[in-house]
Amino acid sequence: MQEFSGPVNEYTLNQVINNQTSASSRMTVKEYKRIGEGAFGTVVEAVLKYADGSEDSKTSQEWIGPFAIKRVPAQTEYKSRELEILRVVNHPNIVSLRFFFDKAGSLNDKTVYQNLVMECLPSNLQSEIKYYRQSKYTIPYPHMKAYTFQLARAMLYLHGFGISHRDIKPSNILVDPATVQLKICDFGSAKKLEPNQPSVSYICSRYYRAPELIVGCSLYTTKIDIWGLGCVIAEMFLGKPIFQGQSPELQLKEISKLLGPPPNTFFFNSNPNYRGNMYTNKLFSCTVEERFKQIFSNSPPDAIDLLSKILVYDPESRASARKVLVHSFFHELKRKDFQVFPRGSSEPIVLNLFNFSEYELELLGPLRDELLSPNK
Ligand SMILES: Nc1ncnc2c1ncn2[C@@H]1O[C@H](COP(=O)(O)OP(=O)(O)OP(=O)(O)O)[C@@H](O)[C@H]1O
Ligand SMILES: [Mg+2]
Repeated sequence: MQEFSGPVNEYTLNQVINNQTSASSRMTVKEYKRIGEGAFGTVVEAVLKYADGSEDSKTSQEWIGPFAIKRVPAQTEYKSRELEILRVVNHPNIVSLRFFFDKAGSLNDKTVYQNLVMECLPSNLQSEIKYYRQSKYTIPYPHMKAYTFQLARAMLYLHGFGISHRDIKPSNILVDPATVQLKICDFGSAKKLEPNQPSVSYICSRYYRAPELIVGCSLYTTKIDIWGLGCVIAEMFLGKPIFQGQSPELQLKEISKLLGPPPNTFFFNSNPNYRGNMYTNKLFSCTVEERFKQIFSNSPPDAIDLLSKILVYDPESRASARKVLVHSFFHELKRKDFQVFPRGSSEPIVLNLFNFSEYELELLGPLRDELLSPNK
């Protein structure tokens, strides 16, 4: 067992539920590091052990982990579907839930907290982008491709179930720079969207909010996550968020600086009752295609082409996860000689990016052959 610095919080609980087996056990939790502080709760790094007297304690006396434990109040005015969604998803690019338990707060705190014990990753895309920006670089292109591909794969899987993450942004995307693995986390805003059933439009962090949400669309689709994906890819290339609106309405103005004024059909289809500023003035004189080249002047043409298919006003015309995965930007990943070098290492590593499940292949439909065919 490792030695840990900082204040350690150790406690034993009677009912810790194993996500896979649903079995409840008596377990000891040892928390030793705070790793995240969000709008809704805290995330700590911890190890767990089966406590004496528990059925499993006979077989396992060792600390297991490290895990990340996310703690949020069990009851709030906002409905969180995080536990129910994490319990059903199972994908290499989605953070996996190992255990969960409820626990009362400290002495004077009557709140009951829901604790989600997840696999722990060492970093997230926000920290990675910041790390490279500080040294005046961007994330290396092979890493960017591998990360983006995994992100799109997670979306293909989630969207196949009709689940929308609804808070795609770099801090909700966990990565391990040593293995170039990526996993989406923070399902606190996620929801299974049902056709013709309205959902709230005030979700997603502002910079990553799809244009239809900005104008108050309530019958949106999982394409809102694809918009977030586009913003994340753009941010990896630019080193900073691409659309930094200073208010929800000004966010649309920032988008129009790249895409031009939103067409009238966009407002009509998203929310005919929208009464806000429509930003009808053209803010640049060139074509939208030229505008993409200006803004992403240092990015390769296939990346610009991919972005121009994702960052589209009309959600129906916006690329789907499936279409993203077959884009030529990712062709390099299929090459036999494709290698990535983890940061600071001269040893290349092999990535297993094409281990699609039957379910994913089904979702890919006719595009599966294109995706799995060897690269010319
Ligand atoms: N499984 C994990 N492994 C490692 N770090 C994690 C894990 N889960 C969360 N974190 C870290 O904790 C931070 C907060 O977690 P999360 O986004 O789930 O909480 P939140 O309260 O909903 O956050 P916010 O409101 O800021 O989006 C993440 O940005 C990430 O850096
Ligand atoms: Mg978060």
